[in-house]
This record gives sequence, C-alpha cells and structure tokens, in this order.
Amino acid sequence: MTATAPGKIILVGEHAVVYGRPAIAAPVWQCVATATIRAAAPGAGCTLHAHDTGQQLRLDEGSVEEPLLLVARLALAQLGLDRPDWQIDLHSDIPMASGLGSGAALSTALVRAIFRQAGREIDPATLSALVYESERFYHGTPSGIDNTVVAYGQPIWFVKDAAFQPVHPGCALTLVIADSGVRSPTKETVGDVRTAWLQAPARDEAIFDALGETVVQARLAMERGDLPGLGTLLDANQGLLEELAVSSVLLRRLIDVARAAGALGAKLSGGGRGGNVIALVEPAAVDPVCAALRAAGAARVLVTRIE
Ligand code: PMV
Repeated sequence: MTATAPGKIILVGEHAVVYGRPAIAAPVWQCVATATIRAAAPGAGCTLHAHDTGQQLRLDEGSVEEPLLLVARLALAQLGLDRPDWQIDLHSDIPMASGLGSGAALSTALVRAIFRQAGREIDPATLSALVYESERFYHGTPSGIDNTVVAYGQPIWFVKDAAFQPVHPGCALTLVIADSGVRSPTKETVGDVRTAWLQAPARDEAIFDALGETVVQARLAMERGDLPGLGTLLDANQGLLEELAVSSVLLRRLIDVARAAGALGAKLSGGGRGGNVIALVEPAAVDPVCAALRAAGAARVLVTRIE
C-alpha cells in the first residue's frame, strides 16, 4: 500500500500567520514524500524506516518525541489497531529543513498509507489535524498552515484557527523555486520572531499588519490574474520579512538574481534564514531565471505552477 503527499510553498504571509494574519500557500507536486506499507511476518511488530534520514524506528519502542512515531501511533489509535505486523518505508525527494514542508509531507503520506493499509481512506480534515500534532514537534508553535495545505493538496487562504478557503488564480502562476542549500531552522526563526515581538510588540504588530495587507492584496491580484501586481506584492512581502530579520544575505542575493533575470517578483518562502526562495515568472522567463539561479549557486531549482 502506497500513499504520497506533496511539498509546499508559502506564497505570501509566513511568520505573520503565526500571529493571526492571513497567508496563502500552495502544494508543490514536483517533489513528494511517499510511504509504502507491507505486511511483515506474524509477531514481527511494526517497523518504520525513514530512508532519507537513515532512521529505523520500532513503533513499540521509540520516544513519543519522535514526530513520525507520534503520528503513526495516533493514526493506529484512531483505527483501533494495536501493534500490526507491518514494515513501513518512507522516502522523500523534498529537501529537509528547507521551508518546503518535508516534515508535514512525510507525516501526511505516512498517515494516509496507514489508513489505506487498514482498508480506510482518511478525510483531509482528520488527516490535517493528525499531522498538526507532529508539526508541533518540528515547529514549536505552528500556525497549522503546512499540515493544511499538504493534507488538502490545493492552494489555500489560511488564517490560524479558522476554516481555510481554497484560492483560485485568475490565470496559472509559474513559480521558480530555488534552494539556497542552507538549512532553514523554522523553530529558531519562529522563536526569534516571538522574542523580538515580546520586546517591541507595537513595532512587530505593525509589520504583521503590513504583511497581512500584502496577503489580502496578493489574493486580489491572483484572482484577477494580475501577474505584475502579484510580483510587486511578493517583493513587498520580502521587504517586510527582512524587517523581521528572517532573511539572509544569501537569500537576498538569490532574490536579486531572479529579479535581474526577469522574475516579476521574488521572496523567501517558509521560515527563512535559509531554505528556498520563490520567484514569480512569465513562462518565457522560466529558462533564464532558472539558469541565473543555478549560476548563482542554488543547490536545486524546481518549477511549479499554481492553477
Ligand atoms: O515550515 P516552514 O519553514 O515553511 O515554516 C512555516 C511558516 C511559518 O509561518 C514560519 C511558521 C508557521 O507555523 O506558520
């Protein structure tokens, strides 16, 4: 039994989304996590092999602080299954700790496969709620955007603790995603933003408000198919993220390179300080922007479409 789940990008609104402002996220199907479950010998118990990290875990042994074990146990408990004899293999081509939601995707694929192996299809709301529990270990205080976009697999308008709304672009968006090759420590950046907010709440609330406003405007631009307008809003979003001190010299360089090569706008995506940048491009600019980002040292370049 096999199940997959996509990576994700945050188009606009990361960090401020933790403080109740809206954000827009979209799945990235060009990189996926896959979980495969096979029956094991009777009495063998349940083992989980995460091939990309080399982790070999036993469901009846490991720590509850291990997110994959936690989410697998929660899924089995929902199904009323106790210690099935299964071998679970996890693979992912989503770069880890890069703001592309690899943790949420692995957990999503795992839970989906567990339900399928038990002869059930899980609904996305239950799936998202289960994966949220594992996100708490990766992130500390997650807004819930990653588990929602990955579990539903569609572009979303997301506000913490509210029902998400699907977003429908007026025309397809083409995005180049470039990996800086530097880890993005989401828990750390989210923690640093919180420390700064506690020290200067009025200043940071104003930045969150401005970020929220770029998200409102970005949705309108997206829905009317105004690509240049959306590009300008990505740039504005990046400027505000820099004010929150979650960008880096390297990210900024990749963003400038993408813009100079013809992107309509570009920004970091996710927790920041490392990880990926996204650049909005017209289809004709895909090749030059990808080439410029590779020449500037991007570790990996992907192209995705949001429609
Ligand atoms: O998982 P990442 O690195 O894409 O970060 C998620 C986005 C944040 O807004 C920074 C955190 C959150 O929980 O929303």
